[in-house]
Amino acid sequence: MPEIEPIRWRDTHLELLDQTLLPREQRWLAVARCDQAIAAVREMRVRGAPAIGVTAGYAMALAARETPDAPMPRWLAELTEAAARIAAARPTAVNLGWAVERSLGVARQCATPTEARERLLAEAERMRAEDVAMNRAIAAFGEPLVPAHGGVLTHCNTGALATAGIGTALGVIRGAWEAGKRPAVFHTETRPWLQGARLTAWEFQQLGIPAQLIVDSAAAALMRRGEITSVIVGADRIAANGDTANKIGTYGLAVLAHAHGIPFQVAAPFSSIDLRIATGDAIAIEERPAHEVTRIAGQAIAPDGVAARNPVFDVTPARLIAAIVTERGVARPPYVESLRALAGRPAVAT
Ligand code: MRU
Repeated sequence: MPEIEPIRWRDTHLELLDQTLLPREQRWLAVARCDQAIAAVREMRVRGAPAIGVTAGYAMALAARETPDAPMPRWLAELTEAAARIAAARPTAVNLGWAVERSLGVARQCATPTEARERLLAEAERMRAEDVAMNRAIAAFGEPLVPAHGGVLTHCNTGALATAGIGTALGVIRGAWEAGKRPAVFHTETRPWLQGARLTAWEFQQLGIPAQLIVDSAAAALMRRGEITSVIVGADRIAANGDTANKIGTYGLAVLAHAHGIPFQVAAPFSSIDLRIATGDAIAIEERPAHEVTRIAGQAIAPDGVAARNPVFDVTPARLIAAIVTERGVARPPYVESLRALAGRPAVAT
């Protein structure tokens, strides 16, 4: 299958496939400075929790290059300031903070800025390679959960564009397809940013997997008619009790799945699991500008001056989630125990 590679390092700089332009145009954005990487994350030129985590790793490497030589304590203090700015680019996905902390940990072990610059770039490359391997492991653990027939629904974009590899929930569907299963595949538009209509549709086309796009509000009717028999989505942050923050609309799909007796499942790497927070109540939900709701591709679809709210994530309570698929295995309720048990297992080898 053709591989999509949205994040790549080119000798001196990072290149990102600009997701604001897809599917109309495939344009690569050159990112040579840390602030450009932060802007690319904030403007959603690169998006999806694992992808922004990997980008944060490279942003740290760029920040290290930009931080002038100084005695190590002062140099680290400056790098830590850049790290805080990177981690704050978007608030909900834990992967940003996770990647930044991991890079800072490496920098603290270095004797000189020169050594740190080298090792931070190597660490970013390692995060990227690990994500590729984790995606494959998630697909292998998740594939048995996809029905051989019936219909599987996914939401937002959780494929290659959202990660460094084949994706999480979309990767699981791909894994099932590669294993010879042929369920009907449905994906939502994912208002307001249309990650499903623009990005997931494009990825399924690239992969040659037949899939049908539905408006977000069609999910209930297709479940009632028995056309959708399973749901699998990604995650931006999972609390210790299994409460899961993901793209706005996910919670609604989980409630619908529950009402129709359909399994609702989450696929995510361990870097999206935040065992430091007990429940989803502690997850900050990003609110983006109202114009993302009132305009589509620059065209107004609502009267000028209308008030709009744009929370872009929601939290699905753990009691609605049948399984959480990770690269270390599948967690089942009660998640407080099963996630803690998986945390003790070794991470996937690269
Ligand atoms: O706002 P986005 O497009 O970054 O939101 C993405 C999602 O909600 C995904 O479902 C999640 O990050 C998992 S991606 C593998």
